[in-house]
Amino acid sequence: MGTFKPEDCEVFAEFRGILMDKRFTKYWDDVETFLARPDDLVIATYPKSGTTWVSEIVYMIYKEGDVEKCKEDAIFNRVPYLECRNEELINGVRQLNGKKSPRIIKTHLPPQLLPASFWEKNCKMIYICRNAKDVVVSYYYFFLMVTSYPNPESFLEFAEKFMQGQVLYGSWYDHVKSWWEKSKNPSILFMFYEDMIEDIRREVIKLIKFLGKKPSEELMDKIIQHTSFQEMKNNPFTNYTTMPEDMMNTKVSPFIRKGIVGDWKNHFTVALKERFDEHYEQQMKECTLKFR
Ligand code: A3P
Repeated sequence: MGTFKPEDCEVFAEFRGILMDKRFTKYWDDVETFLARPDDLVIATYPKSGTTWVSEIVYMIYKEGDVEKCKEDAIFNRVPYLECRNEELINGVRQLNGKKSPRIIKTHLPPQLLPASFWEKNCKMIYICRNAKDVVVSYYYFFLMVTSYPNPESFLEFAEKFMQGQVLYGSWYDHVKSWWEKSKNPSILFMFYEDMIEDIRREVIKLIKFLGKKPSEELMDKIIQHTSFQEMKNNPFTNYTTMPEDMMNTKVSPFIRKGIVGDWKNHFTVALKERFDEHYEQQMKECTLKFR
């Protein structure tokens, strides 16, 4: 395990202004020249914002509620992670090139790093965001369980790194703001994790309509049941327990961990909350995007 400093970290390095996994950027040409198809659907998020949840919901919509089809493979194979690369072992681009249309594509890239082809083909995209404080907490546990990531040290130190954008995928603030700008494009649906927690039925209807399908009661019931927190936590096709333990150790922290709004209250000290809020105000003051 290395430290967080980009200059001496083994796995992360600054790439076009954001901290990225060196294994991903080593073959960046493959990502940059990725050929999108007009019927591709992109699910974009800053990490830990509900990517897997929305991926499973969308997959259910595509398969018209057929749960068996969702059990044909793990979520990370059914919805490949575009920029994910580890030499010949993992290759998101290769996985996607081998998929029949319509493809569902996961990415954590900010819009400026997304392959141009997606914009040229005007592909539909869904962006999900989640309040920054809960993202920090979820990201902290994720850093603990991903074996190759540097040790986040204490939660306090991790939160500090997060504020400075010195975590994988860089500044949460820039990510959210730049996708918010893009979401004026009607091909992009901008969603909130907190809205899904508040009223999943309403949000599933939104997704179904965005995908040009009709929301039937039967389909919705099936989706809501199959993608509930408990179902996804216990389902080996969504909970990442099928990942090799030397990559992700779900015994250290489960991937589907708590699934609540406000877990930050169990982790932030009063002083950190104050610092975080102040910094947040500065970062987001020009932005019309308001979280609750
Ligand atoms: P927590 O760590 O706060 O529990 P991502 O898929 O983008 O990596 O996001 C992971 C976060 O989404 C985790 O948050 C995880 O528990 C939560 N999550 C996954 N499936 C969920 C579901 N069905 N309902 C609510 N939260 C879910």
